[in-house]
Amino acid sequence: MKFSISAVKKPLQIKTDALVVFVPEGREVSGLADADALDDLIAQLAVDGDFKAKPGSVVLLHRPAAVGAQRLLLVGLAAKPELRDWKKSLQAAANMLKTLPVKQAHLLAVNGLDTLAELTPGVFSEVFYRYDTTRSVEETDTPELAALHLCAVGGDAAPPSAKNALQQAEAVAIGVRLTRELANLPANYCTPAYLAETAKKLAKTHDLTCKVLGRAEMEKLGMGSFLAVAQGSVQPPQFIVLEYRGAGKKDAPHVLVGKGVTFDTGGISLKPGAEMDEMKFDMSGAASVLGAFEAIARIKPRINVIGLIAATENMPDGGAVKPGDVVTSLSGQTIEILNTDAEGRLILCDALTYAARYKPQSVVDIATLTGACVIALGKVNSGLFTADDALAEALLQAGRATLDPCWRMPLESDYAEALKSNFADVANIGGRPAGAITAACFLWRFAKDYRWAHLDIAGTAWNSGANKGATGRPVPLLVRYLLSQAQ
Ligand code: BES
Ligand code: MN
Ligand code: ZN
Repeated sequence: MKFSISAVKKPLQIKTDALVVFVPEGREVSGLADADALDDLIAQLAVDGDFKAKPGSVVLLHRPAAVGAQRLLLVGLAAKPELRDWKKSLQAAANMLKTLPVKQAHLLAVNGLDTLAELTPGVFSEVFYRYDTTRSVEETDTPELAALHLCAVGGDAAPPSAKNALQQAEAVAIGVRLTRELANLPANYCTPAYLAETAKKLAKTHDLTCKVLGRAEMEKLGMGSFLAVAQGSVQPPQFIVLEYRGAGKKDAPHVLVGKGVTFDTGGISLKPGAEMDEMKFDMSGAASVLGAFEAIARIKPRINVIGLIAATENMPDGGAVKPGDVVTSLSGQTIEILNTDAEGRLILCDALTYAARYKPQSVVDIATLTGACVIALGKVNSGLFTADDALAEALLQAGRATLDPCWRMPLESDYAEALKSNFADVANIGGRPAGAITAACFLWRFAKDYRWAHLDIAGTAWNSGANKGATGRPVPLLVRYLLSQAQ
């Protein structure tokens, strides 16, 4: 879908498949100058009870005399719309357009053009996204909405702020789509090698640097914890290093670390069968790193960013790691693996140790780490864990600004008591209480040399049930965070 924006003098005369007009609640007018015929129409619809401008309400009119467009879509908007209100109304518009044979549409906003520009690409590509990759036939035959045009009413040109917002939002939407696509792919397609190929392709397209370490190289480095998880799988593990350089050589980078478990059976601590298919999404953290890179490479901010992805399957096998096994991590710390299903932290700890070599300004890891986080925060907020208040604030703010929120959880050494082991420096589980926090405490041991935050996206990365599928979160948050750190 192509997005564009330009100044429009006479919006009601635009010849287009569909003109979308936002009508504020309580005012029941278009807000446009010289639009009496349209305003009369809106008033009449209200009198007849066919359209009341409530947030998210829509009415579709075919070739009304008031406009030159083939269809007029009136969409209710909150009287004083905030970001989330705009999103709701845009979603209503997109969902209606999706049912129509519309190839191009024009969106008209008298006020709030910047907000509209910021939200439109994300909302429309979310609503129009269709997973077809592993189907033999496409799901529907609705014609694709190919072009969406934002109209800046009056003026000679669209304001630069809105143009920028639209371009950035489009880059983020493309990143989100990549993340969703990768996470939705079944595990027999999306293997660790496939993630590595995707990273290499991304690097080639956007002139990034990409390096992939295999089992032998990781052995040489001493990534004993990561390799312990991988040893039960026939799919070779991959450690992916992506670099985006937008700032000077001496500018310390920001690092994103993604959990890339392409399928999590639990290993020898096998998971129950129900809904185990959803564990193909256990590489959503890795996918969000790739999605963020896709967006950043398009936006080209002045910042250096490193992406580290630990990719492996977690499988039971004659050679798989066993409960009670003790392994030595890249940091030198030994770990007693009491539960092989707590594998995310085992691969991330080695990636976090590796991150230190960049002397980074910040490190953010992204992981579908614990079921406990889903219980604590549900599907609304990602869990944020960090000891650094300024970093917390920057990430919280990025989440609020993109409607991709996270919620700060405690990270305190008292919780780490639960990780004591009789046979190693640390155990990989801490029992059921505060499971998301003890998991974060485990990672914290390996992230002492830099400013670090952990995002547990177990609840936010995908939807279950009828709408089962990846959400693309937290790509919008990550990109906004990185942009906030750019010069
Ligand atoms: N990938 C899971 C976490 C998960 C569970 C994400 C459910 C989304 C939905 C992770 O590897 C895991 O299995 N964690 C265990 C940890 C436990 C053994 C301490 C969990 O949460 O049950
Ligand atoms: Mn697991
Ligand atoms: Zn997992």
